[in-house]
Amino acid sequence: MGNTDDFFSSNQKLPSKIKTEIVRKYLRAWSVILSSKHKKIGYVDLFSGTGYFIDKDGHREPSTPIEVMEFCACYYRDMAKNFYIHFNEPNVEYFNALSENLKNHRMWPHIQRRLTLTHEFISAENLEEFIRPYPCLYFLDPFGYGGYSIESISKILSGRGNDILFFFNFNRFNMDISHPSEKIKSQSEIFLGVESKAELLEKIHSLHGREKQKAIVDHIWSALENCLPEKCYVVPFEFEFQDKERTSHYLVFVSKNITGRKIAREVMSGLRTEEGGEFRFSLKKSQKTQGLFSNYYLLGDLLLKRFSRQQVTVREIINIYDTENPRNSYVDKDYKDSLKQLREQGIIAVEKPDGKRVPDSQMPDTSIVTFLR
Ligand SMILES: C[S@@+](CC[C@H](N)C(=O)[O-])C[C@H]1O[C@@H](n2cnc3c(N)ncnc32)[C@H](O)[C@@H]1O
Repeated sequence: MGNTDDFFSSNQKLPSKIKTEIVRKYLRAWSVILSSKHKKIGYVDLFSGTGYFIDKDGHREPSTPIEVMEFCACYYRDMAKNFYIHFNEPNVEYFNALSENLKNHRMWPHIQRRLTLTHEFISAENLEEFIRPYPCLYFLDPFGYGGYSIESISKILSGRGNDILFFFNFNRFNMDISHPSEKIKSQSEIFLGVESKAELLEKIHSLHGREKQKAIVDHIWSALENCLPEKCYVVPFEFEFQDKERTSHYLVFVSKNITGRKIAREVMSGLRTEEGGEFRFSLKKSQKTQGLFSNYYLLGDLLLKRFSRQQVTVREIINIYDTENPRNSYVDKDYKDSLKQLREQGIIAVEKPDGKRVPDSQMPDTSIVTFLR
C-alpha cells in the first residue's frame, strides 16, 4: 500500500473511487429496503479517514464519509429521520479534519443529532462495542486487514439486518501468513483464529501463485459463509495492482440476506472492468480466455455444460446455476446476454410458454430454453 501517512494528501486513486462507489450505491439500495421495515437504521464506518482527498494544488475530492453525507442530502433530507451515522477515526489529525469537514457540510444541521463521532483504535477485541442494536451497514476500511477478525465480523452479522463491506488487503495477508516474525504472523492468526490459520497453512504449504491465492480466498470466504449457524453470503470484488497483474486487495460484501447479495452483485457488476466477467477491477486490459463460442461470456460455456440436452425456463437456469454456484459473480443480465449469444449460434432454441417465437432482443424469465447439444 506504500506510505499511508500521506494517503489523503494526493488525488483519490481509481480503485479507491470504485470502493467508495460500491459503498454509496449499496447503502442507497439497502437503506430504501431497510427503512421501510425498521424505525431506525444506520451506517457505521470505523476507519473513516478525513472525508476528502486533497492534492498538492488544493483540489478536493470527496471520499466515503462525505459521499455518505451527500447521500443523506439527496435521499434523507425530508424523507426519513430514522437514519443514524457513526464515524470513527483514531488518527488525531485525520479525526480533526473529518470533524471539520462534516461540520462544514450542508447536511450537518439536519443530521448532527443522529451522527456520532469517535476516535478509537479498533481491534478485533473492541470492535463489538461499536455494534448498534438496530440494522446498520458496516464499512471496515483499514489499510491492511487489521482491526477486525472473522469472529468480530460474525458478531456484526448476527444482528438483524446488518450487512458488511470490508477491505481485505490480500497482498499483505499473503506476505504475512508465513512471515518469520512472530508479531507479523500473529496478525493473520488474529484474523482467522488459531485453528483456522493452521488449517490454511496445511492447505497452502505446496502451492504458489494463483493456486495459492485461490486456496487462501476460498478458505476465508468459506469461513465467512459458515461463521453463523445460518448461511451467510459473500461477494468479493477484486482489485488488481495498477502496474501488475496481481491482486492487491478485495472489497468483500457479507450478509445473511439473499436480497442483499443480489443488490451487491448488481452494484459490483456495474463497476467491474470486464462486462460479463468476474467482479474485478484491473487497469490493464484483460487477457481473459475466450469462451468456446467466440465471445467472452464463459458463462455460455458453463450453461451449455450444465444444461446439455435439457429443456428449462430462463428463470430456472438462473436459479439452478446460482444455487449450485453460490459464489458466482453473475447478474441476470449476464445470463440473458449469454443465452442470447447461444441462441445466435444456433446452440439453443428459445420459445414462449405458448410456443410463440421470442424476439431476438428479448430473453424473458418465463421463456423455455432447449439446449440442442
Ligand atoms: C484506507 S483509510 C480509510 C479511507 C476511508 N474509508 C475513505 O473511504 O476515505 C484507513 C483509515 O483507517 C484508519 N485506521 C488505521 N488503523 C485503524 C484502527 N486500528 N482502527 C481504526 N482506524 C484505523 C487510518 O487512520 C485511516 O484513516
